[in-house]
Amino acid sequence: MNFTTLREAESLAKKKIRKGTFNWLNSGAEDDFTYRKNISDLEKIKIIPRILTKNHNIVLKQDFFSIKLNFPIVLSPMGHQTQFEKNGELTTAKGIDKENILGFFSTQGRMGYDFLKRKLPKSKIAWQIFPFGDKSWIENEIRVAEKFKSPALCFCFDAPVRSHRYLDRESRYDARKYGKRLYPVSPDAAFALTYDWEFLSWVKKKTTLPIIPKGLLNIDDIKNSIKYKSDALWISNHGGRMFNSSISPVYILKKLKKYNIRKKIIVDGGIRKGTDIIKYMCLGADIVGVGRPAIYGLISNGQLGVSQIFNILKKELISAMQNGGFKSKTDFNFKRLILDDE
Ligand SMILES: Cc1cc2nc3c(=O)[nH]c(=O)nc-3n(C[C@H](O)[C@H](O)[C@H](O)COP(=O)(O)O)c2cc1C
Repeated sequence: MNFTTLREAESLAKKKIRKGTFNWLNSGAEDDFTYRKNISDLEKIKIIPRILTKNHNIVLKQDFFSIKLNFPIVLSPMGHQTQFEKNGELTTAKGIDKENILGFFSTQGRMGYDFLKRKLPKSKIAWQIFPFGDKSWIENEIRVAEKFKSPALCFCFDAPVRSHRYLDRESRYDARKYGKRLYPVSPDAAFALTYDWEFLSWVKKKTTLPIIPKGLLNIDDIKNSIKYKSDALWISNHGGRMFNSSISPVYILKKLKKYNIRKKIIVDGGIRKGTDIIKYMCLGADIVGVGRPAIYGLISNGQLGVSQIFNILKKELISAMQNGGFKSKTDFNFKRLILDDE
């Protein structure tokens, strides 16, 4: 079914799919505090508009390593998508392709990178690896990413073990039992607890692909990412799904202001509106990632639904920029925000 806003997509998705599946998608760790905080911290920020800025022609193009992005929006990696729709990841990849959006796909997904790239050789999709295996397994995933020309390689480090999600538990739902699987389960998640920062040095020796650690929320971890030569930084708390009571991306971006970070910053968590994107960009992000809303689109209306989510966000971003007096990336800065409760 079609929808006109992201919130309408969410309520359609909720009506359309079984309760346990929807709760698995929407739950955060424990009682969802951090999931809600991601959204409420964004809501607290206010934007100071400008007028007469001659902003009829908004330009948001940027290079992302080997590819070009027309908008600063990407699809965040999400696993187990065939629970939501028969062809899950493949349908999502087709949906973002139509909107020329870069999407990250995950080793926790039901389809491998090679499978997706064989089906959609020209699509802008990138691979994200969980360190859920020994180095030989990880090296094999790196080779697949290289062979099929992933523009970058993302490593998700903020989810070494399964979290306790009350909504999910109380639904007595086990995601692994639903939806088809065309890609094997990772060999052994326990490896994630055995790696430290040397892991990144090892990865950098194994490949020339740009490396992006995902799950950064701590200044020392951000410094380490730079020290170990990461090519971009992904600030995220996994949409509040893994570690409850964690700080929000908004909080760490505010702290990062005094450091002169020269790496590209991707941030995700809680984006539901065009103005949320402006806020993250003014806080220093170069690119924002969208998670759950893409799946609301997938559930509600398959491939078209996924495209529609990104189309709506693009249109909301442009109209908000024009009404708020923003012309291009250079207008995004802290001075345009009120961060406290004024
Ligand atoms: C259903 C679901 C599955 C996810 N799976 C992954 C994953 O496989 N890898 C990963 O790095 N992050 C994963 N995430 C986290 C997202 O990449 C992203 O950080 C988060 O969804 C952003 O918050 P939002 O949903 O509020 O947009 C998942 C999130 C959801 C909702």
